[in-house]
Amino acid sequence: MPRPLVIANWKMHGRHAGVAAFAQAAEASLRRMHTPPGFIFCPPAPYLCPAAMALPANAITRLGAQDCADRDDGASTGEISAHMLADCGASTVILGHSERRAMGESDAQVTRKAAQAIAAGLVPILCVGESAAERAAGETLTVLRTQCQALQSATHGAIVVAYEPLWAIGTGNTPQADEIARAHDAIHSVLGSDITVVYGGSVNPANIAQILAIRQVSGVLVGGASLQMASLQPIFDAAATVRT
Ligand code: PGA
Repeated sequence: MPRPLVIANWKMHGRHAGVAAFAQAAEASLRRMHTPPGFIFCPPAPYLCPAAMALPANAITRLGAQDCADRDDGASTGEISAHMLADCGASTVILGHSERRAMGESDAQVTRKAAQAIAAGLVPILCVGESAAERAAGETLTVLRTQCQALQSATHGAIVVAYEPLWAIGTGNTPQADEIARAHDAIHSVLGSDITVVYGGSVNPANIAQILAIRQVSGVLVGGASLQMASLQPIFDAAATVRT
């Protein structure tokens, strides 16, 4: 069983000095561990280069972006191509996060972005998840299957899928363990058993052990609790001890 994956999504938080210091602190922590988890740090795009420069060449920490353009380099003011992110040290990119879908991003755009990411050598971390209303209507698994089917054409090669129920993001609420397990099974049923599926939504030091104890969960995507080493460290610790 591979070690769990911890993905830190900093969203639109941080400043240059803090990002570099955090990257170094996280890396130092991982190096102290006997069996460190996989770790992907996703700072805002302007801070990828400083984060890369703060890390040693053989770092355990990998870097990820939070979005990329749906097209290649060219006349697209304000956009950042997947090739640029790779050039800045990213090896992965979060795509289709619900906060971006809420700004109008469609499955078709996410699929184009994933194709760009793969072409640039980045592993896409594709986010799917149901709303509170869809969950209340008992539609969670149908919604997940539909979202995964829409992304199917973008999923050749290595991908990570993040199951992130919209109602769990930043709320302190999380699904029951059996709901998480069923959601992961539904994602695997569409996209294959060999992909990595992680859970995201209010992961914190108090619930990390329970979440990683779910057999289907290969890791976690952490927002708020990843902003400080004080709350990320217990998540690293739990990820390092589970399934040993
Ligand atoms: P949260 O965010 O951990 O703060 O709920 C997770 C995410 O949106 O990726």
